[in-house]
Amino acid sequence: MPRHYAIVPAAGSGSRFGAEMPKQYLPLAGRPLIYHTLAALCRCPRIDRVWVVLSPDDGWWGDYDWRELGAKLETVFCGGATRAQSVANGLNAAQTAAADDDWMLVHDAARPCISQAMLAALCDELADDPVGGLLAVPVADTLKRADGEQRVAATEARDGLWQAQTPQMFRYGVLRRALAGQAGVTDEAGAIEALGLKPKLVRGDASNLKVTYPADLRLAELILQGKTEGESE
Ligand code: CTP
Ligand code: MG
Repeated sequence: MPRHYAIVPAAGSGSRFGAEMPKQYLPLAGRPLIYHTLAALCRCPRIDRVWVVLSPDDGWWGDYDWRELGAKLETVFCGGATRAQSVANGLNAAQTAAADDDWMLVHDAARPCISQAMLAALCDELADDPVGGLLAVPVADTLKRADGEQRVAATEARDGLWQAQTPQMFRYGVLRRALAGQAGVTDEAGAIEALGLKPKLVRGDASNLKVTYPADLRLAELILQGKTEGESE
């Protein structure tokens, strides 16, 4: 049986967020944001190990105590200049443990609201899939293309369009090969597509948001609060 592992790219600077520290360390529900992300992955019974990929000059990780996350967590300071490079370096660090057929779940540090139900749905739906896939949601809003003056140049059809989220789950060997040739892609699925393969879209929901701007952090706080209340009922 293939095993499941997770890689969490966390070597970004959070430039769009514009805070003094990278967004993954901002306080969220009483903990650094990334704590919630890692806790969800470490708590998932199917995932055997979680590699968190930090920047070689990360000056924040050491300020916190991560022992509560348990023995599944591996910390590597090998982040690269792009997200794809950070993931590729993380895959490299995982090579002593991972076999080519094992599943790797790549999940953004900046998505702290991932639920156990979504992780289970992803693993279940892809268990027998020859390619792998990703959580995604069908585009719900009407899409406008802007001209140079921020006026509407056209309305774009949204039929068949999905927004890609993470985790993105592919076999270790294929993913490593795919990313080795594709430093410019913005997600793992893009690298797999470049090999001519078609990743499966597994329907997620909007609660698995990526914290990019300050308003997203407030929304993430509300989602996490709602979860805690649900658990204690
Ligand atoms: N990431 C990474 N290495 C990079 C760039 C990004 O590991 N060189 C990680 C981020 O830490 C984040 C995830 O990839 O968890 C998704 O990237 P994004 O949301 O774009 O985060 P940042 O690059 O930090 O933000 P920004 O683009 O606003 O600077
Ligand atoms: Mg970025």
